[in-house]
Amino acid sequence: MTEMTYKTILVNKENGIAWVTFNRPDKRNAISPQVAFDMVDALTKLDTDPDVRVLVLTGAGDAFSAGMDLKLFFRDLDDKPVEQAAAREAVRRYEWYKLSNFSKPTIAMVNGYCFGGAFIPLVACDFAIAAEDATFGLSEVNWGILPGGLVSKVVSMTMNYRQSLYYAMTGRPFDGKTAADIGLVTYAVPRARLRDEVVELAADLMTKSPAVLRATKETLKHVALLSPDEAYEYIQAKSEQLRFRDAENTRARGMKGFLDEKAYKPGFTPVKRA
Ligand code: COA
Repeated sequence: MTEMTYKTILVNKENGIAWVTFNRPDKRNAISPQVAFDMVDALTKLDTDPDVRVLVLTGAGDAFSAGMDLKLFFRDLDDKPVEQAAAREAVRRYEWYKLSNFSKPTIAMVNGYCFGGAFIPLVACDFAIAAEDATFGLSEVNWGILPGGLVSKVVSMTMNYRQSLYYAMTGRPFDGKTAADIGLVTYAVPRARLRDEVVELAADLMTKSPAVLRATKETLKHVALLSPDEAYEYIQAKSEQLRFRDAENTRARGMKGFLDEKAYKPGFTPVKRA
């Protein structure tokens, strides 16, 4: 296992997985400016690290993250426009631009409290696996503020119209099982199984071509707002780009293995990695 050292996050690399952990358990992993600065740096390095195949984002202690740090991120910066601008830029870069566009699969492992601003990195990850008893909440209405940053946007991307208005306007908390039912997370599992389930999913992803996974997520994330004609062109261009990017030549080996060698059924198992 190798470690990278930061003030507010832990980064460990083990068996192809980069475990990135919000590490302010005494503050329920609230996102301070320093968390954002640390995350920008770590994600930049991990994205090009050849030892990293999958990134898992989680929290230390009993919280994934209690959202934006109301003191360090908001109140303390109200009269410091330069510091405030730097913090806002960093949080915006890490939690959406860097994480959503990370070139390898990303999994949010929701181990506990997940409130407000924490919904953004949650949704930016490709997968979110939650403990059934994790606690989610859009508590902003209780603070007299809006689900800001991109929270309202990511909620409208994942939860349906009725559920998003219900939880945003009442601020009522909900558990991991409900989060799965309403589409906010991919699935929920008993807490005792959480880590094993995440490792199992990561291992499954690591059997597939990294280039194909990257092109797949980039495509899914970008076609949603395109017209059918634009989407068709984009997907076609991505497919051609993939032939160029995929040094393992997965497509050709897949065709050969299935059609000529009758070696396997790609409907069930991936082409063996080169
Ligand atoms: N910003 C700043 N500090 C926070 C925080 C946040 N979002 N969430 C928790 N903390 C701090 C608390 O102030 C407390 O600090 P202290 O020990 O110096 O007093 C510490 O973390 C522990 O919080 P506490 O409330 O005692 O823990 P708990 O386990 O009883 O409850 C929560 C956990 C997450 C339910 C509760 O802290 C909470 O409701 N936090 C606010 C969540 C929220 O509304 N986030 C959206 C922000 S937009």
